[in-house]
Amino acid sequence: MDRIRIVGGNELAGTIPISGAKNAALPLMIASLLTDDTLTLENVPHLADVEQLIRILGNHGVDYSVNGRRESQQKGYSRTINFSARNIVDTTAPYELVSKMRASFWVIGPLLARMGEAKVSLPGGCAIGTRPVDLFLEGLQVLGAELDVDNGYVLAKTRNGRLVGNRYVFPKVSVGATHVLMMAASLAKGETVLENAAREPEIVNLAECLIAMGAKIHGAGTSTITIQGVEALSGARVRVIPDRIETGTYAMAVAMTGGDVVLEGARPDLLQTALDVLVETGAEITPTNEGIRVKRNGAGIAPVDVTTAPFPAFPTDLQAQFMGLMTMAKGKSRITETIFENRFMHVQELARLGAHITLSGQTAIVDGVAKLKGAPVMATDLRASVSLVIAGLAAEGETTVNRVYHLDRGFERLEEKLSGCGAVIERISG
Ligand code: UD1
Repeated sequence: MDRIRIVGGNELAGTIPISGAKNAALPLMIASLLTDDTLTLENVPHLADVEQLIRILGNHGVDYSVNGRRESQQKGYSRTINFSARNIVDTTAPYELVSKMRASFWVIGPLLARMGEAKVSLPGGCAIGTRPVDLFLEGLQVLGAELDVDNGYVLAKTRNGRLVGNRYVFPKVSVGATHVLMMAASLAKGETVLENAAREPEIVNLAECLIAMGAKIHGAGTSTITIQGVEALSGARVRVIPDRIETGTYAMAVAMTGGDVVLEGARPDLLQTALDVLVETGAEITPTNEGIRVKRNGAGIAPVDVTTAPFPAFPTDLQAQFMGLMTMAKGKSRITETIFENRFMHVQELARLGAHITLSGQTAIVDGVAKLKGAPVMATDLRASVSLVIAGLAAEGETTVNRVYHLDRGFERLEEKLSGCGAVIERISG
């Protein structure tokens, strides 16, 4: 199993290109199931989760081809990919595939809307909390789906071959359920109004894609989304937005190690709250023509309290990285997680590097230390593992991060991007 070896202590300086967002690419790829035309997606990151979804879509009959340009030749570079779901050969998403990636459950929306039926495995447990699918099921029922759960599978059918528009108020904000209901409602008969919808930038990117495919959608990016269903959708060409979580992760790395880095292609509007918090910690953040410039020189890191919440608040996907930063702040900070109930697994690993963190329910109290010391640590999930990388970059001596397949799910060319800015970081295979 691959490991990442880091020798900490260097400041970061240079340019880091920001990749296309994994969490936007996945729903856009799934949207290809809604049409028998070709959907072309630009700036698709080259990540394990994307490859896994290509396999899952392939099982339903989706063909894909990668366009030329340098990206397609070089491993790990964002690519332009054409997806064609002309012939859907199977409306079942089996356990073996869905259990590997939770977002693949989302195929239930487009399959049901286009084919009138779907049989999709429940995703099963997940390291960062129970993550149920009740909102997806309730919402699809409101759109007229008949559902049954049997043997670990959701069996979904439409009554007369088509979903029917309706009003659905999400009892809780869910990114995935908003994606799915927006896709399903695009092909439903009549109008759907989704209230208390997620407002994440990835929702807006999916809405742009669906609109380019001929859907009639208003209000994406606000908490009320209105969708007038159409009979069929066409192909389109859409660009995946830059990854705000990757952007925030590298910004936090610079805030922690010190230095001066341009995050090329990053969009400040996608993570304004996190950037504001970084400024409070003492980092200098400047939007530039190329992206975002992050600097921190000399002065210590100020402690800042943070609470995760749906967009536009501080994202749960940056909580672990921010905790990494706070382990070296000059004082105490409180980090409260409100989205997932079990998202503090990095705490034990950060402690191995010398961090002082105590947990009180959903709040971590981080007592900053003057220095961290390198150690072997274990990656537990995608975002937790990158928080260990950041901490390792700032720690004295050598850190090895084990189980890096978690990182490969969501960070394109991580070692290359960081070593390009002066970090001592390498992958050790085997
Ligand atoms: C997406 C992101 C993930 C991010 C999360 C929150 C992708 C591929 N993943 O995950 O990186 O951390 O948004 O920003 O885009 N919930 C229910 N019932 C449901 C659905 C969700 O109770 O039917 C709960 C979840 O357990 C969680 C909360 O709602 O507590 C928010 O989850 P949700 O927004 O759905 O997260 P995902 O879409 O899975």
